[in-house]
Amino acid sequence: MSHVFHRLPTEPMPTAVSGDGCYIVDSNGKRYLDASGGAAVSCLGHSHPAVRQAMHAQIDKIAFAYSGFFTSEPMEELADYLISNAPEGLERVFFVSGGSEALESAIKISRQYFVEIGQKQRTKLIARRQSYHGNTLGALSLGGNMARRELYQPVLLENAHHIAPCYAYRDKRHDESEEAYGRRVADELEAKILELGPDTVAAFACEPVVGATSGVVPAVSGYLKRIREICDKYGVLLIFDEVMCGMGRTGYLFACEEDGVAPDLLCIAKGLGAGYQPIGAMLVAGKICKAIDEGSGAFMHGHTYMGHTLSSATALAVQKVIRDDNLLENVRKRGVELRTALEERFGNHHHVGDIRGRGLFVGIELVADRTTKQTFDPKLALHNKIRLKAMEEGLMCYPGAGTIDGKNGTHILLAPPFIIDETHIAEIVEKLGRVLDSVLADAKTSA
Ligand SMILES: Cc1ncc(COP(=O)(O)O)c(C=O)c1O
Repeated sequence: MSHVFHRLPTEPMPTAVSGDGCYIVDSNGKRYLDASGGAAVSCLGHSHPAVRQAMHAQIDKIAFAYSGFFTSEPMEELADYLISNAPEGLERVFFVSGGSEALESAIKISRQYFVEIGQKQRTKLIARRQSYHGNTLGALSLGGNMARRELYQPVLLENAHHIAPCYAYRDKRHDESEEAYGRRVADELEAKILELGPDTVAAFACEPVVGATSGVVPAVSGYLKRIREICDKYGVLLIFDEVMCGMGRTGYLFACEEDGVAPDLLCIAKGLGAGYQPIGAMLVAGKICKAIDEGSGAFMHGHTYMGHTLSSATALAVQKVIRDDNLLENVRKRGVELRTALEERFGNHHHVGDIRGRGLFVGIELVADRTTKQTFDPKLALHNKIRLKAMEEGLMCYPGAGTIDGKNGTHILLAPPFIIDETHIAEIVEKLGRVLDSVLADAKTSA
């Protein structure tokens, strides 16, 4: 018996021993095509030579210098790089070790900002249902992932409130344009701010492209612009959670670039270090930095490993590869190819309701009936069956349940490495086809 407290303690798992580009190899020599980058992390695949070399070089100099005593060259250079490419208004980077820490930092700095500028009464947070912002208690309170919240509900923050997601496939009315739908759901933010009391709301948070909770749901055109307008009207800070959709995943370094909207706080992780080291970050608007500089003088928050030297050097190397190899262009090009190939294979499939996404960030929503959009019985636990069958086929994809409301709905998330080529796309589609044919045939016999 393993002494590791695994996520699923009763389910045996293969042992990963090496990485080879877009593949992971297990202890039996079996190869798995990483079509989901784990959980949308490994954007450069595994064992990239330039990243490995940069990591070795940094370890040979110094692996860690505590950020309470020192800054470091890689951390400074990484911050310069991120800010020089960031949406307008973002001026500094607060480095942490992952996505949840980035969101916790955003919640806390929102609070501190309003205290610094003499608006202590702003304590409330708004986010959206069917979103995920992390598993630590603050981030979990902020998020609207009902399945993950349920057990912890009694100990979650009471100042976090939720509005509708922007989920056109399910919620747009037939007589409504995409823009009108986006406007209608964005306006729920204004209604919620007015209900709570405009001078009591500190921040609104959302994922510009929702990740694993509802299976890659991009905001419709105009939605985020309207959200920005509403936040500005009521002096509410806007937090974008780009932990999953950021750092090139959609074909843009920051997903919100495509929407032409800049937040006050922008959280990133996953693709920042591409899984080679744990690292996350919060990019902070100049007005927030200034309030703290001219107020108390320090952000009342921090972690031991923030700005970790080796993690910074690793993330810097990852970002240089993405820039120097022009990988964002590859993400956009291969993203179109991947979605086209999926449409060709599954576009008329009776159980594929929607194929959506941006860049190499793709969601496939499965339905029991394509016309009525009726979902499969959650008791079938199709997402687990798909994951296991895909692993058997040598394919990593990221299926999820509770797509619509935390209970109903099934989807598959694909987030392959930015270095994929047409042979990988063909392999993903072929293997996924076999997996779905087999699992859905079984689902029919057991229904
Ligand atoms: C959008 C989003 N925010 C936050 C997180 C939390 O990140 P982490 O698991 O690194 O704490 C995740 C993780 O999946 C995420 O997808």
